[in-house]
Amino acid sequence: MVKTIFIGDVQAGNYDGQEVELMGWVKRSRGSNKIRFIVLRDSTGVIQCVVKRDAVGDDSFEDAKGALIESSIIITGMINVDERADGGHEMVATSVAIVGSVNPEKPFPITESAMQAADGGETEFLLDNRHLYLRTSRMTTMLQVRSTVFGAIHNYFRDLDFTEYQAPNFVAGAVEGGSTLFEVPYFGRKVYLTQSWQLYAEAAMPALERLYTIAPSFRAEKSRTRRHLTEFWHAEMEVAWATNNEIMSHGEGVVRKIASDLIEHRSDELESIGRDLDLVARYADNPYPRMRYDEAVETLQGMGVDIEWGQDLDYSKEKVLTQDFEVPHFLTHYPKIAKPFYHRVDPDEDKYVLCHDLLAPEGYGEIIGGGERTWSEEELLARLDEEGTDREAYQFYIDTRSYGGVPHGGFGLGVDRVCSWLTGADHIREVIPFPRDSRRVSP
Ligand code: 4AD
Ligand code: MG
Repeated sequence: MVKTIFIGDVQAGNYDGQEVELMGWVKRSRGSNKIRFIVLRDSTGVIQCVVKRDAVGDDSFEDAKGALIESSIIITGMINVDERADGGHEMVATSVAIVGSVNPEKPFPITESAMQAADGGETEFLLDNRHLYLRTSRMTTMLQVRSTVFGAIHNYFRDLDFTEYQAPNFVAGAVEGGSTLFEVPYFGRKVYLTQSWQLYAEAAMPALERLYTIAPSFRAEKSRTRRHLTEFWHAEMEVAWATNNEIMSHGEGVVRKIASDLIEHRSDELESIGRDLDLVARYADNPYPRMRYDEAVETLQGMGVDIEWGQDLDYSKEKVLTQDFEVPHFLTHYPKIAKPFYHRVDPDEDKYVLCHDLLAPEGYGEIIGGGERTWSEEELLARLDEEGTDREAYQFYIDTRSYGGVPHGGFGLGVDRVCSWLTGADHIREVIPFPRDSRRVSP
């Protein structure tokens, strides 16, 4: 069985007046004992198919009648242009065959009434049925947009001759602090799931100079905000001989590339889920301003937000700060005490580090964290000691500084967060097929 014709191509007008074979799933079905109207869907769209008993014969008609929602079927018929039809085309069937039937005793569970009646509410009901919810048009659209985002990231880095590089997921130490580490039993001892590819990327930096990845990272985040997952997709990059400013240029470059690829390839999909395309185009077309952490704190204090110098900005604060941003903004020069040991201390003023976060507008907040690395062995040891971090798990990392260390840096971009922001989703779990949070690991 080979599928050659997709509904999207039919709706594009490529088969007007021709007889074609369509394979797909029943989205809706209604009618009488003489005529059925089946709305067929596939990954590319929907089309209404008219099935008349007289035209298809009794066997095909009974199949059509028995094809419940989400049955998979093959329909053959003539494609007619019809202005009134959804998508502008309609099929008049000549034959119908069921491929995978649905048992009438166990109909497709996702219905309006079931969602309303669900005990734990609609959201929990849809999460419980995530494996089936993926087929709905909203989720299908999210997954297609997500794929374009991944493609844009790969293309951005590959076009600039970055090497894609993989790090292990089982690790011995923290990158982003111990409080969000997942412990895993490992043949009688404890290891952790990685929070970031970064430290292993820094080991390859003298070999590859420009490297990137897109991989899962893990954080034992209890906080159930609209932007936290315990397993998220992390696009990270590392560059030799680079300063904080150059790394920010790449962060801006990759995010603008994602936005412009979405405008180019996914405008219809974004519109179908209600996204304002002017906003996405604005994020593609304009530069992203840079401001220092101190200025952000003053701005927040001016807005009456309770924040003290030295604190990292949590979601509640970033939300207020970014509500009125027209485009994403970089915040630079965070206080040393707010950031992990690997951030390079600002040689001009040692209470700051040379780092950045990129904050998305519309209240979304942080989508990128990055900066220059502590690259001299002496400074690195001092920072580990100052932080009270045991050197043992980081011996390999310290070693990388002992043989020709150079200034370098990089960033990590939360791919799911970027998808959530650019689609205008209410919650990060809307954009990942099987979201993981502190309560849910199934289905
Ligand atoms: O700011 P973070 O913690 O930085 C790092 O992990 C660095 N080691 C990256 C680097 O320099 N190579 O995480 C980077 C980004 C955040 O800006 C955010 O977008 C995303 O990863 N992120 C999460 N996304 C979803 N759920 C979570 N729990 C996330 N934690 C971080
Ligand atoms: Mg961060």
